[in-house]
Amino acid sequence: MWSTVTLLVTVLVILLVRMCRKPSGFPPVPVLGSIPFMLPDATKAFQNWQKKFGNIVGMKMFNTWCIILYDTSIIKEALGSHAFSDRSNFPLFLIRNEMITGGSEEPLGILSTNGDTWKTQRRFTLRTLKDFGFGKQSLEPIIREELEELMADLTLQEGQKVQVKSLFDRSIINVLWATVTGKRFSLADTRLVKLSNKVSSMMQNFKPFHPAFRWRWVRKFFPNLKIFKITEGYIVDILGFIEEELESFQEKLNSGCEVSRNSFVGAYLQEMKAAIEEKESDEEGEGCVNHSLLHIHHLKAIVVELFIGGSDTTSSTLGWAIYLLASNPEIQQRVQEELDRCTLHDGHHIRGAESGRHLSPRCSSPDQPDHYPTRSHHTQENPDLWQFPDKFYPQHFLTPEGTLRKHEYFLPFGTGKRVCLGESLARLQLFLFFTTLVHRFSWRLTDDPVVFKTKGITNAPPDCSVFATKRNLPDQETLEA
Ligand code: HEM
Repeated sequence: MWSTVTLLVTVLVILLVRMCRKPSGFPPVPVLGSIPFMLPDATKAFQNWQKKFGNIVGMKMFNTWCIILYDTSIIKEALGSHAFSDRSNFPLFLIRNEMITGGSEEPLGILSTNGDTWKTQRRFTLRTLKDFGFGKQSLEPIIREELEELMADLTLQEGQKVQVKSLFDRSIINVLWATVTGKRFSLADTRLVKLSNKVSSMMQNFKPFHPAFRWRWVRKFFPNLKIFKITEGYIVDILGFIEEELESFQEKLNSGCEVSRNSFVGAYLQEMKAAIEEKESDEEGEGCVNHSLLHIHHLKAIVVELFIGGSDTTSSTLGWAIYLLASNPEIQQRVQEELDRCTLHDGHHIRGAESGRHLSPRCSSPDQPDHYPTRSHHTQENPDLWQFPDKFYPQHFLTPEGTLRKHEYFLPFGTGKRVCLGESLARLQLFLFFTTLVHRFSWRLTDDPVVFKTKGITNAPPDCSVFATKRNLPDQETLEA
């Protein structure tokens, strides 16, 4: 009897000590954690918690402990340290990994791996993408080709309603497809339409915090739940595209041919082949890539992640930019006047346009209370940090003299060890698409209703339609003369 009491007291003391060591926040209730305290409006709840508990708050999403950091300097310090660089294995990725490996949930890719595997895949991906132009002008021709086709499409649709939500999906997926496989689809290709629809609806409809994903046993015992079937369907379709393409690369390699390193897949497969032939495992050279960790499973997983990470984020940002300009005609006119004064190659001088473009990632960037570090609602909609947090106000990004102003708390791409891997590609695409489309076309909202959506993994622009009217511009030669 006494030993049972001693055991119970010891367990209680340990639990109490552990609870006291956690950041202050709401004591969780069984099973649901802090969820009941977040209802009905999680954003408001987070704001109230900061007032009550300070800049570091603890909470529990069902069974997962989370820490919310509200202060930019604390966010930067935490995310710059190794202690905060690990991610938990997202449920979406457990399902994906199982499908790639045929059963194993072994962590794959970049987004949900940690330690050596994450370092190797991230370093190799960054290095390879840099080699063929990430962050450099050499990617510009690929992006410009997409822009030209999109503009030709818009010209054909002049006078007709254009849906903002899906306006950029195909072009942005095509830039990624060209980077990953070295090929592009025509915008009308049904395969491209299918791929972009799949990626975009997965991003908008996937519910990472759905209770069914919180406990692994739920999928083991109820594998046929609708939420699992829908998620699996998306992954099967997206993987299908990638696997078909990989097969043709591998056929070439198996027949002893070299595959071009001019695409991410080609470069990865060549490097894998070299590693197998030379049985090398070189941790020092080649930018510290551990070649023994390069594997076809990781390659498939990374390609899925480049589509997930790089498509909806960028096209939603552009969608918001068009919606915001179409609904603010005076600001649109000011941006166009500034663009008219510069040639598009003179990018550094386009300040008004730059500041307008900066606003849209504030609306579209991922907003997850769990392990996503950038609490965009707080840092991006905080009245202490922005003069008009809920208004389209380009002056937020301009000094009184009209030069571009950077904000240390504007973190649409995250910060620290896990900072967005595609930031330079995203910035280049946003700049070229935004400046070119606003320079060449005028955008006007139609009379259709504007319907704001609830947030998915990313924050999609509202459902609305616009008219795109070609502007009368002097041609390039006249400008240069
Ligand atoms: C407007 C466009 C984009 C936005 C707003 C955005 C935002 C973000 C954010 C907030 C993160 C999380 C950072 C963190 O956890 O600290 C992230 C990670 C990531 N992004 Fe992006 N992103 C964009 C475009 C892209 C593009 C174009 C690609 C690739 C082609 C990409 C690939 C990734 C990957 C692979 C990660 C995971 C990095 C890691 O865990 O090491 N993103 N992004």
